[in-house]
Amino acid sequence: MNSFKDFSFAGHRALVRVDFNVPIKDGVISDDTRIRAALPTIQKILDDGGSVVLMSHLGRPHKEIAKKPELTLANFTLKPIAEHLSKLLKRDVKFAVDAGNDEALQMAQELKAGEVLVLENLRYYKEEEKGDAGFAEKLARLGDVYVNDAFGTAHRAHASTAIIASNFPAGKKLFGLLMEGEVKAAEQVLHNSQKPFTAIIGGAKVSDKILIIENLLERATDIIIGGGMAYTFWKAQGCNIGNSLVEDDRLEMALELLSKAKAKGVAIHLPADSIIADKFAADAQTSSAQNHDIPNGWMGLDIGQMACDMFSKVVKESKTILWNGPMGVFEMDRFQHGTKCIAEAVAEATSNGAFSLVGGGDSVAAVNKFGFADKVSYVSTGGGALLEYFEGKELPGIAAVNN
Ligand code: 3PG
Ligand code: MG
Repeated sequence: MNSFKDFSFAGHRALVRVDFNVPIKDGVISDDTRIRAALPTIQKILDDGGSVVLMSHLGRPHKEIAKKPELTLANFTLKPIAEHLSKLLKRDVKFAVDAGNDEALQMAQELKAGEVLVLENLRYYKEEEKGDAGFAEKLARLGDVYVNDAFGTAHRAHASTAIIASNFPAGKKLFGLLMEGEVKAAEQVLHNSQKPFTAIIGGAKVSDKILIIENLLERATDIIIGGGMAYTFWKAQGCNIGNSLVEDDRLEMALELLSKAKAKGVAIHLPADSIIADKFAADAQTSSAQNHDIPNGWMGLDIGQMACDMFSKVVKESKTILWNGPMGVFEMDRFQHGTKCIAEAVAEATSNGAFSLVGGGDSVAAVNKFGFADKVSYVSTGGGALLEYFEGKELPGIAAVNN
């Protein structure tokens, strides 16, 4: 397969699938990380003397409109994103108001070297998510080289992310620089990890993380479990977790994971204690408790100091670290300490030579909030895609270009 950096885009019109699915409200982008992450790919094509047609989805328009009839497709427009991109690239960016009509095709065909066109939200078309081959073929006409740089959407077998690739011959379908970087970082952790390899898994629900934990049992030496999901493990072992979050239908499975880990010699670290609160609110009364005995009426909203100390020690001794999911409700100041502790430990391990990969929306938001993004080895732009990669699944967006 051709590598992106060796391909000269001079005279080519590159059709680039990016993931510009960024948080946006009333046209205001609150985090442009994913847009910035695609800039090196776009810039290289322009510097070579090529032109660029960018396509992305934004949100889930049809599903959201079905839930909230006051919304319309216009609420999901990529226009503000095209305008923001224009500022970042310091050049004019054209915008096609309909990704699938003749006007878009004409605008693409008229692009000159160095020019950029952004297409309107691909998901205005239901064909996109259906992976419709006809729609994919229509999109394919917009460029003569296909570049997939949308790691964040690589787990979707949609028209623009996967199905489209078969319309381009080998050598004319490539991964962009972001995709290459993401895959390299993820591969290093999953297939080339130096030991000890610690996976830090947090978040609210065990059910979302079963597959990743099972797959990591084959690779990691240590698995740290924090966040709301930890209480299901404690309750499964007969502890009183008060009013903490729990998935009662997963108790059996939690015990199975613990015994599988034991059989494989993987150390599972559960938090010994919690910061507890009398309600789920920023102004709740707080206290601390050991996790085998949380009083009724109280819920754990962050890991406690004992857990912080113990987890930090494990992290600091690691050579490879994967972090997915926060330790507590870090969005509220009083429940951010545990997540911050982990961020500090990951940063310290990294400065001592460990390779650390942070991914999944909330843990990325946390490292950004605490200012640790440049103190870890790699911050992924993937949420669901990164999770599925570490579950051991083949990502359709990657497979399609490789085939
Ligand atoms: C994401 O942010 O998860 C990706 O952009 C994919 O979006 P989706 O989950 O709506 O398919
Ligand atoms: Mg998603």
